[in-house]
Amino acid sequence: EVPAMKDRYEDSFPIGAAVEPYQLEGTHGEILKRHYNSIVAENVMKPVNIQPEEGEFNFEEADKIVAFAEEHDMDLRFHTLIWHSQVPNWFFLDKEGNEMIDETDPAKRADNKELLLNRLETHIKTIVERYADEVDAWDVVNETIDPNASNDRGLRESKWYQITGTDYIKTAFETTRKYAGEDAKLFINDFNTEVEPKRTHLYNLVKDLLEQGVPIDGVGHQAHIQLDWPTIEETKESINMFAGLGLENQITELDVSLYGWPPTPAFANYEEIVESGRLYDQAERYDQLFELYRELDDKITNVTFWGIADDHTWLDDRAEDYNDGVGKDAPFVFDPDFNVKPAYWEMMGYDIDG
Ligand code: G3I
Repeated sequence: EVPAMKDRYEDSFPIGAAVEPYQLEGTHGEILKRHYNSIVAENVMKPVNIQPEEGEFNFEEADKIVAFAEEHDMDLRFHTLIWHSQVPNWFFLDKEGNEMIDETDPAKRADNKELLLNRLETHIKTIVERYADEVDAWDVVNETIDPNASNDRGLRESKWYQITGTDYIKTAFETTRKYAGEDAKLFINDFNTEVEPKRTHLYNLVKDLLEQGVPIDGVGHQAHIQLDWPTIEETKESINMFAGLGLENQITELDVSLYGWPPTPAFANYEEIVESGRLYDQAERYDQLFELYRELDDKITNVTFWGIADDHTWLDDRAEDYNDGVGKDAPFVFDPDFNVKPAYWEMMGYDIDG
């Protein structure tokens, strides 16, 4: 049996995985228990699953993950209280059922804003009151920055933003703090946090919110990365930037795709991937990445993979979408049959090149 990842990194940070509830059992469950000491829901804690209709909360699937974390003494990250995606549209309809974003009357717009912020508070309060004792870190808001936005601050022009400005972010953090307590760790989570101009937009937003007294404890770096993008240097600079604001950093959704952008042409299956030799490039990437994480381990408080093994990854859907339905990716350190890959040995600090 190979050494456990969580033991290797015991003195640095917990090692996490994103899971669907079905993965708590069988071989996935065994690997989870052996190698990981932190867990997060890949989908079932998102707004569309937790509160599909107003006032109808569905905690059944989320509870399974919470119970597993408790039973096996794992840290628990909550993903995600507020997001522009996977959010049911009832949040954004006024009392007459009209889209709030279409409203032009200033008085009615002000009412709509109040209604939306009330809904946001109810959503967060209900969840946080239920899970406050179990959750260690909350993704309070996800993906608030969009470098292609038409405003010069790079604020994502989601419905949340169009109706409330940045008040939804502020209210989300304040409400989470109110019900989760002082010990809870509250995160703003995003992807491409390593690269300009996005990281500076995020930095400026967080700095501004901190100056207003908004309770933010850390930045979640999703780290959906590629073999040579972003660079290790950019990654290091980003973590140091946010640490410089007094914030924690967590790596929240790590996966190392074998493709560039767009993910074409794609390998059709795992055998083709093995034959390509690209798993050794990936191992090298994992080596450099975890060397950096170890170097910065006083600034990084969690490293979570966005899955367990290469049998189940959202990147397969992405590869298929861009390649006429045929495509396979392999971003993790366990292969589709749960065997360790070259990347495993490198992230554990063994030098497989000899
Ligand atoms: O549950 C339904 C199922 O009932 C239905 O039959 C099926 C048909 O398409 O869809 C299922 O829902 C899918 C869901 O995953 C659960 O499998 C959605 O279509 C699919 O869009 C959804 O994708 C998730 C994606 O977020 C949504 O944006 C991925 O699994 C999940 O890995 C991904 O995770 C995100 C993070 O939350 C935020 N950061 C980026 C990351 C990757 O996109």
